[in-house]
Amino acid sequence: MLKRILSGSLLLAVGLYACKTKPPVSTTPAVRESQGVYQYVEEIPTRTGTQASAFFSDKKGVVGRNGMVATAHPISSEVGLSILQAGGNAVDAAVAVHFALAVVYPFAGNLGGGGFMVYRDQAGKAYTLDYREKASGRATQNMYLDSAGNVRPSLSILGHLASGVPGTVDGMVEAHKRFGKLTWAQVLQPAVDLAANGFLLTDRDATGLNRIKGDLLKINPDKTYFLRSTTPGDTVTWHKGDRLVQTDLAKTLQRIQTRGRADFYEGETARLLAEEMRRGGGLITEDDLKNYHATWRDPIQATYKNYKIITMPPTSSGGVALVQLMRFTEPYPLRKWGWNADSTVQVMIEAERRVYADRSKFLGDPDFVKIPMAELMSPDYLRTRWTDFSFARATDSKAVRGGTIPGYESLETTHFSIVDKEGNAVSITTTLNGGYGSRVVVGGAGFFMNNEMDDFSVKPGVPNMFGLIGNQANAIAPNKRMLSSMTPTIVEKDGKLFMVVGTPGGSTIITSVYQTILNVIEHGMSMQQAVNALKFHHQWLPDKTIFENGAFSDNTVLKLQERGYILEKLTNTLGRMDCVMVRPDGSYEGASDPRADNTARGW
Ligand code: DON
Repeated sequence: MLKRILSGSLLLAVGLYACKTKPPVSTTPAVRESQGVYQYVEEIPTRTGTQASAFFSDKKGVVGRNGMVATAHPISSEVGLSILQAGGNAVDAAVAVHFALAVVYPFAGNLGGGGFMVYRDQAGKAYTLDYREKASGRATQNMYLDSAGNVRPSLSILGHLASGVPGTVDGMVEAHKRFGKLTWAQVLQPAVDLAANGFLLTDRDATGLNRIKGDLLKINPDKTYFLRSTTPGDTVTWHKGDRLVQTDLAKTLQRIQTRGRADFYEGETARLLAEEMRRGGGLITEDDLKNYHATWRDPIQATYKNYKIITMPPTSSGGVALVQLMRFTEPYPLRKWGWNADSTVQVMIEAERRVYADRSKFLGDPDFVKIPMAELMSPDYLRTRWTDFSFARATDSKAVRGGTIPGYESLETTHFSIVDKEGNAVSITTTLNGGYGSRVVVGGAGFFMNNEMDDFSVKPGVPNMFGLIGNQANAIAPNKRMLSSMTPTIVEKDGKLFMVVGTPGGSTIITSVYQTILNVIEHGMSMQQAVNALKFHHQWLPDKTIFENGAFSDNTVLKLQERGYILEKLTNTLGRMDCVMVRPDGSYEGASDPRADNTARGW
């Protein structure tokens, strides 16, 4: 299963990169200006118990005083910056970036997917918006099982049956309606222009599209969307620098620009989408679209030392899991032990093991299942989960089940972070699930549909594409949202905005966010260093720790192996973080992941 998890486009991990270099050794902190954007030269903190090359690359953070945008693609970052410079606030920029990503980053940017937004305004009030996809009203619990009760795995991943009802457009409408300053037409315009006039592909964009050519031809036999040649069936490959023009998508975006929600959920786009579903045997109907609404939820807010973690409640598992992880970790002197020293890693793995077991047992759509939120995050409960922990020996995952809570009845993605001049901060993670989603392109509308149905537990105990095992809490039901791991998060320090963090990566999202926060708080890294730092991951089952090459020193590997940990070195990478940190002087450090095209722009 792990092979499946780590293979193909479903993971962001795309091969080894040659740019892994040693970080600069202790330079004096200095700030130098270039093209209106400051390059930040950092001092590398001294760490014990690890080798020097703890970073994927020595990429530098970007510093700005008036605003910062960090996204997965250089063009969407530029769009966000231009909206901020035009007087837009962080939410205006976020909406513009979201739609721009749907054009320039079809790998995960989307109209046909969904996501979560965590927003903290300049006064410190926090909000979370759930615009996660929902199962169609026609979905059934066993829809992916054959007559013998076995899972038909590809059905929830490829093609029309794999899609949930998209939430992105309603989510952005809601966010903009409540907090936007510029007009809807203004924030949609960059995406319309990019789709109509085209944009130049990066090497990574071209490779991604070439990789899915086979699926495009198979699943969309009569269409030429995202193919280099406009002759059906022709397979000319894309190259870096080619221009991708998306005429139908431009028209779709224009309709959304003019009619907003009404177009996507009840108008021409709704009609095209439902027609596409009928043509390909999918379930989503006009009624499903009409009934879809994004939901404002109460943010999870929890303290860790003098920090506050503001994060996403269910339908994401990310927030609960992150708070559990931080609380398991809090009593231990990680800083003293050192970054990725054996004891540090051991505590983190054991926390992850228990947290993912709880995720599997308790978490699902809160509109459908009762989740014991307060109990799951309470120190008393977490203490009961830690009683079998020992530094002498790895806990066996088979012996770890979801915890016992009295009274409880059993039952490929992208992130961006934006902060504006006033200190309003947006943390958004959005997805089609796998790269390019179900690979179904909506005829006449020109956008990919998600394959988010695979995030449900299609059968209790059977792992999904990320190896996650679910149960009744995350079983399929009509109109239910599938559980997510997306963890858009904002961190306060001493009551003030401090960090905006998040990443794609399926089940590894939670642990990448956890490590990135600890890298800053406990290990004294800058935001960019925390992103560059190599990462590891454990998710209860399968019972092994995967790690990026170089994340563990020989000493850490040896000690962990002696204590019974199964370690697996990745040939690819973990996470694609886009983060912002407020520096002591009030300026912003934008940090974008060196593992891909991610770019931070500030002013
Ligand atoms: O919501 C989730 O947890 C997944 N659909 C996220 C997928 C993802 O991050 C894909 N990228 N690797």
